[in-house]
Amino acid sequence: MSVPASPYVTVLPRAHPFLSYQGTPTPAYELDSDGIPVITTSGLTKVYRSRGREVTALDGVDLHVREGEVYGVIGQSGAGKSSLIRCVNLLERPTAGTVTVAGQDLTALAGRGPRAGKELREARSRIGMVFQHFNLLSSRTVQDNVELPLEILGKSGKERSRKALELLDLVGLADKAKAYPAQLSGGQKQRVGIARALAGDPKVLLSDEATSALDPETTRSILQLLRDLNRQLGLTVLLITHEMDVVKSICDSAALMENGRIVESGTVSELLATPGSELATALFPVGGEATGADRTVVDVTFHGEAATQPVISQLSRTYNIDISILGAAIDTVGGLQVGRMRIELPGRYEDNVVPVGFLREQGLQIDVVGEDLLVKEGAK
Ligand SMILES: Nc1ncnc2c1ncn2[C@@H]1O[C@H](COP(=O)(O)OP(=O)(O)OP(=O)(O)O)[C@@H](O)[C@H]1O
Ligand SMILES: [Mg+2]
Repeated sequence: MSVPASPYVTVLPRAHPFLSYQGTPTPAYELDSDGIPVITTSGLTKVYRSRGREVTALDGVDLHVREGEVYGVIGQSGAGKSSLIRCVNLLERPTAGTVTVAGQDLTALAGRGPRAGKELREARSRIGMVFQHFNLLSSRTVQDNVELPLEILGKSGKERSRKALELLDLVGLADKAKAYPAQLSGGQKQRVGIARALAGDPKVLLSDEATSALDPETTRSILQLLRDLNRQLGLTVLLITHEMDVVKSICDSAALMENGRIVESGTVSELLATPGSELATALFPVGGEATGADRTVVDVTFHGEAATQPVISQLSRTYNIDISILGAAIDTVGGLQVGRMRIELPGRYEDNVVPVGFLREQGLQIDVVGEDLLVKEGAK
């Protein structure tokens, strides 16, 4: 059987700058020389001690978030995500390790004892924080909630009012300035939370499950707002989520946390180019089961020029084998168009080493499904 070139193979842009990456994954902060890390944690460790018990919530986390990117940290409940974000702005004091935000070593500030309070407060005012449950003061109007951080910074009434109204306009709530939180929908409350987080003109915005309490449509509009703010203001966003869709829709980079450790991280395109990447598979699932025991199932991810070549039909012709397409998808992940196809070759992997090698030589990302060792070999 000769398989015609799948239409989806040719849909990908010819020389998409983000899809041309084919080398060994490197840490995100080394990839782009213009990408200065704006948040760096090094060996960040947090051990909670309560009633004689110890819980290691963070176990040596090295995180590098580049200026101007939206960086998502995903992981299951208890993985340490909230601990990480709370340590980044020193709301939680790390047990060990360092946190640097916009060139300032916050851990060193905190380490100088009670007198460091003012400096740390100032540094923290330049780090916006958005919460799952909004944390608005119910007795204050929307405008007064947004003005709160400006009061703490000692700004004049006139300045506070000007800034708050400007921010409410930015988040689309100019007409709600005099309303009280109880009169707002969940999405509107979160917009107030975001406006308040921007009051100190932060360079970075931290978001802990900002959309978890919202319905899917409101979630989309809040994510869009975060994306717009990221683009318009050049705001770096570090967001924590347990929803893969959040990462998929707005993140440039992502990290997977398990048991207090980052087990995978990189730009979305790097992750997609990493054989065996759990995050990539979760971000871009393709279904399809093997039709029999003696079959080799291979996931093919298309990158750059290779995507435009009718490789599957070439493979079929060159080795005279029948190839079944079990599943295929083209989607936008983190703003990048990506294609992935699951194909099945007759015979076991041992019989298909050469055809699989052929696919790799075409510059395609190849994951042999269910062959952990071989997947690792492909990662070399
Ligand atoms: N203040 C605390 N005292 C003691 N243990 C804590 C404290 N805060 C968190 N932990 C523990 O640290 C671990 C990590 O918790 P954390 O809240 O960071 O997880 P998470 O990834 O944010 O989870 P979720 O998705 O449920 O919010 C958990 O085992 C949790 O029980
Ligand atoms: Mg949490």
